[in-house]
Amino acid sequence: MAELQPLKVFGETDVGWCAATPPNETADEDGRPLVRTVGFSAADPRAPARRVYDDPEVVALRERLRRDNGLRGLEIVEPHEIERARRIFFRDGFVVVRDLLDAAALAALRAASARVLHAILAIPGEGGRKYVTESGRLPHRYSYGTSSASRQLLHEPEWAAMVDLATTTPILAALFGGDDYWVIGAGGDLCLPGAIEYQTLHSDRRESFELTPARLEHARRMGIEPRPAADGKGLDDRTRHLLFQRTPPLVTINFLMSDLTAENGPIRQIPGTQTRPESPPTQADEPEWMRLSTLVGAPAGAGVFRDPRAWHGATPNVSREIRAMPNVEYAAPWADASLFQASMPHDLWATLSPHAQRICARIKTAPGEWPEGAGVMHPLAARRAEVNGGRGAIAGGVSLRQG
Ligand SMILES: [Fe+2]
Repeated sequence: MAELQPLKVFGETDVGWCAATPPNETADEDGRPLVRTVGFSAADPRAPARRVYDDPEVVALRERLRRDNGLRGLEIVEPHEIERARRIFFRDGFVVVRDLLDAAALAALRAASARVLHAILAIPGEGGRKYVTESGRLPHRYSYGTSSASRQLLHEPEWAAMVDLATTTPILAALFGGDDYWVIGAGGDLCLPGAIEYQTLHSDRRESFELTPARLEHARRMGIEPRPAADGKGLDDRTRHLLFQRTPPLVTINFLMSDLTAENGPIRQIPGTQTRPESPPTQADEPEWMRLSTLVGAPAGAGVFRDPRAWHGATPNVSREIRAMPNVEYAAPWADASLFQASMPHDLWATLSPHAQRICARIKTAPGEWPEGAGVMHPLAARRAEVNGGRGAIAGGVSLRQG
């Protein structure tokens, strides 16, 4: 396809806007089209009827987004404002930090994001569709993680290079109460122009409300003094709530390859939802203020530190620009070792900084071994399962990597 040469994940592009891909059409494991009403790929009942840039419904949506989209008073902090970043993160469940990547790092990651995306989009769609829709996702939306047969991109040098940056490591240490946290994965997500549907609001991981001795000990390190309940049994409710809030099992950093604008699919985050016990609203029930609660104004090179328990979702990209956010996912010091799978080749690991090597120790392969599935990108779960023995190939339900 000529539009893919050269492919860029920032600035104007002809990629996307496939009018032959019906609104709300997802794909099953084998690529058969279907529309779902529940779950992660649930249809957006308010989506425009045609995936066409100049369609009157799309034009109306674009005008409304230009007028109203974006969290009012979004705070964007500098990398050196570590305490401020920590305070906002624990309060809201996310914080935007500018200038995480310098010009060279941003250019390298943009090039890598385009290279990997090219492998996904070069597979022709069926029935006149330009692309293959990813299994279990709405059209024109892809995950760098779940599209990889290893579920990660830690075999790519540019993703491995992100795990330990001078700008991110001090903030991660503040969020985890020290530097003994772990890398658990890396991938990210993107949407093409013409992703006209809202992705349903979700948590990547729900809070279990389980208090293990290791988590309790970690909470003490985070400065939470466990106060006993009045009846002497367990902890008092205020302590328990604070403890779950301050001990996120995971922290994800999404790096922005383009400025987030009102119309290019800015991520939406609902502040303060990281320990809510109930489910987020469905597509039909979500109020307009949540649909507009997006990170408009966050610039390229910035990152969003996210507590993946917090309610979030992707929004319509009605622009002519790809919105890509490669990410790294970190696990708390108290995370169970059984959660980790090898996805970084030993030889790549050996080139990293001492701190990066330590935090990647649980996801690196043994010397001479290549991670299963790494290097195979395909939007269809069944094609990925062919190369990884069926392990972890499905992108439906609640996975750890949904962007
Ligand atoms: Fe997600």
